[in-house]
Amino acid sequence: MTWKIRTIRSKVVIYFLAASALVIGLYGVMTYGLLRGNLEAEMENRLTTAGEIIAQEINPPDMKYLELKGKIYFSYREKLRKIRDITGVRDIFIIGPGRRVILSSLDENEKFYINLDRYEIEKAFGGKTSSSKLYPGEGGMYYKTGYVPLAENGKTKCVIGVDASAGYTKYLAEYRRTLGIMGIISLALALLMSMLITGGIAARINLLKKKAGEIAKRNFSENITVEGEEEISLLAATLDSMKKELENYIGEREKMATVGEFSAGVAHEIRNSLGAVSGYAELIMEKSADEKVKKFAADIVSNCMKMGEFLNNFLAYTKEFTPELVTIKTAELISAAVAELPAEVRAAIVDKYSASDAETVCDVYLMKKALYNIIINGFQALKDKAGRVEIFLSREGGKSVIIIKDNGAGMAPDVLSRIFQPFVTGRKEGTGLGLAIVYRIVKEIHRGEIYVTSEPGKGTQFAVKI
Ligand SMILES: Nc1ncnc2c1ncn2[C@@H]1O[C@H](COP(=O)(O)OP(=O)(O)O)[C@@H](O)[C@H]1O
Ligand SMILES: [Mg+2]
Repeated sequence: MTWKIRTIRSKVVIYFLAASALVIGLYGVMTYGLLRGNLEAEMENRLTTAGEIIAQEINPPDMKYLELKGKIYFSYREKLRKIRDITGVRDIFIIGPGRRVILSSLDENEKFYINLDRYEIEKAFGGKTSSSKLYPGEGGMYYKTGYVPLAENGKTKCVIGVDASAGYTKYLAEYRRTLGIMGIISLALALLMSMLITGGIAARINLLKKKAGEIAKRNFSENITVEGEEEISLLAATLDSMKKELENYIGEREKMATVGEFSAGVAHEIRNSLGAVSGYAELIMEKSADEKVKKFAADIVSNCMKMGEFLNNFLAYTKEFTPELVTIKTAELISAAVAELPAEVRAAIVDKYSASDAETVCDVYLMKKALYNIIINGFQALKDKAGRVEIFLSREGGKSVIIIKDNGAGMAPDVLSRIFQPFVTGRKEGTGLGLAIVYRIVKEIHRGEIYVTSEPGKGTQFAVKI
């Protein structure tokens, strides 16, 4: 299972806690190590100093008589016991050349740490004072032994061991506890502080979210201001100006939509009457004997046809569509669009698409119309008989890319940037609605993409991705 920390708040809290834990941990480890090292060195120093003082009290030639356990042995034992009691150590003992304890202030002679401390003891026999590591002993206490060489004529004969409990380990344990408590308090403080800080921010962000939600519901009545951190206030101000712009834009669009609906109604009415006008003009054309009248009537008919086409395009542009989506071979779709074109246009088309087996999901009627409009524009831009409109088809990530390329007049950049706007035309006979309809069909209805590149005098290329 993977955990995802999504809110700013939880992130900040976690960072705060992690940083505090790191600082406390590092601080604890460092100070503890330092303290422990100092205390240990101090104790070593005390043990070996004691050992050196005891060494002054011992006459080395006496050592060989200790094994006899006679008078010398008992007098030395008494001496060591006294020093032990005065100094408060646990034991003072002497290790003979056989690496065995030959005398101890305690009653039992054999000591287990003799084996453990072999390295230190050898070091002392080598003429250097040394001391053991801390080891746990009776009463839950830690102990340490210092070893001091006892020399006769510059040669180490025996080693004096001084063994004492490390009282400082109690302080160390106490220090550890204190560190632990401090750690817990610091973490709690870090948690509290981070919650307090982020709580305020989270509350303001939530407030912003709520206000943005109101905008989404088109409730523009409230002013958006959020007090607090500069960034959040700025965000609120930005949202507020966005809201105002949106309010204007929506108002404008609603007005336009009303105008659009109205014009569509008018266009409908005109188109209906146009049928009658054109019908009567045709009748006059047939019945009249006067050649002049016949010509006028023919003019009326042809103008009615132009106007009818314009109105059809206009109505197609303003109409609300609910697309009927079907899956179709894209090559079939293109063929169907091409089939509707006039023969002279078809003659200029170079088919580079029908071998492709790409498929697309679209409203066939609308998409055919869009392709038709693009192809016919390409044809209209051709300058002479050598003019060609090439159609390519390829697949790109599950989508079809249809390329319609002509070697006609091309467009200047300022024309190119406006061609998808309604009523923008560069032709005397044009309505400027062809590409506006293409845009609606491809981009808005099918959520597809259109790319155009054009070079004046060379030609134009439309790419439609659906
Ligand atoms: N393939 C093309 N080559 C050159 N110009 C083009 C091409 N396609 C479109 N245009 C330019 O874009 C304008 C707008 O096209 P369109 O929206 O179809 O309206 P219309 O064809 O009625 O003028 C055209 O008038 C023309 O100037
Ligand atoms: Mg056109």
